Amino acid sequence: MPTHRILAITGQTDEAPDCRTVRLDGAMDAQPGQFVMVWVPGRDEFPMSVSYIGDNFGVTYRIVGNGTRSLSAMNPGDKIGIRGPYGRGFEITGRRMLAIAGGTGMASIAPLVEKAVESGVEVDLALGAKTAPELIMRGRCEEAGAKVHVSTDDGSAGMKGLATDIAAKVLDGGDFDSVCACGPERMTTGVLDLAQKRGLPLQASLERYMKCGIGVCDSCAIDGKHVCVDGPVFSREVLASLTDLGRTRLSISGRRVPLD
Ligand SMILES: Cc1cc2nc3c(=O)[nH]c(=O)nc-3n(C[C@H](O)[C@H](O)[C@H](O)COP(=O)(O)OP(=O)(O)OC[C@H]3O[C@@H](n4cnc5c(N)ncnc54)[C@H](O)[C@@H]3O)c2cc1C
Ligand code: FES
Repeated sequence: MPTHRILAITGQTDEAPDCRTVRLDGAMDAQPGQFVMVWVPGRDEFPMSVSYIGDNFGVTYRIVGNGTRSLSAMNPGDKIGIRGPYGRGFEITGRRMLAIAGGTGMASIAPLVEKAVESGVEVDLALGAKTAPELIMRGRCEEAGAKVHVSTDDGSAGMKGLATDIAAKVLDGGDFDSVCACGPERMTTGVLDLAQKRGLPLQASLERYMKCGIGVCDSCAIDGKHVCVDGPVFSREVLASLTDLGRTRLSISGRRVPLD
């Protein structure tokens, strides 16, 4: 049940250069893949995946602009607003899952890995980042019991290549019946291709600019769907039907622009 709350920050930890986790004084009951709207008073409100669910509630963010920069400068005891949880998260299905995460996509994949292992699913994780220091939450997923396969674009850790390259290798070496992914949209289109070619069920999370988070303002629209309520996690069939996927998005002013 979504709620609106003002919560105190209990601490912030560095995950990687320009990436932090903020912990909050309040519990959050959410499904892996669901998000909250984070309001930094006087600055901005933006969507963030729930990276720590339950009593340990937290979100993990890359510092990219004004809102996240202001959040990173806040101290224990400072207060922020939280609305949510919102959206459709990942469903845990099958016996053997390949989870694929690119960069801060791990914020929604790490709680999924933990919950899937707890539910008795055998989980492999393909984790990709540009460079070794940007690989986040690897130890957390290993401790949960997942088999972790790493790639970096520059070869500084694991296989040199993209998350989709390591994912393809792992898929070819095992008998998977479920694939879940969160990362940059170009990774998602690559993962969709991998799943389509192998006829595997896929759930992948999308990012679009969001204002309301509840299906009212249209700013997160993609091919007639609202990422905030119909997603952010979509099935392979829906992803394959989206003509804007990997091509265009709506800008902050609502103009259709090419994907970065
Ligand atoms: C469902 C969902 C879950 C997300 N989860 C995470 C997460 O766990 N960790 C994380 O680091 N990032 C996540 N993001 C992206 C995050 O919301 C943006 O990076 C953040 O809003 C940037 O805010 P800013 O004020 O610092 O940057 P700004 O200066 O406002 O913008 C910097 C960039 O962020 C993008 N952006 C800005 N506002 C939004 C918005 N409201 N919605 C989507 N994109 C935006 C813009 O395209 C811009 O290029 C998620 C996005 C969505 C849609
Ligand atoms: S963010 Fe307003 S409709 Fe999705």
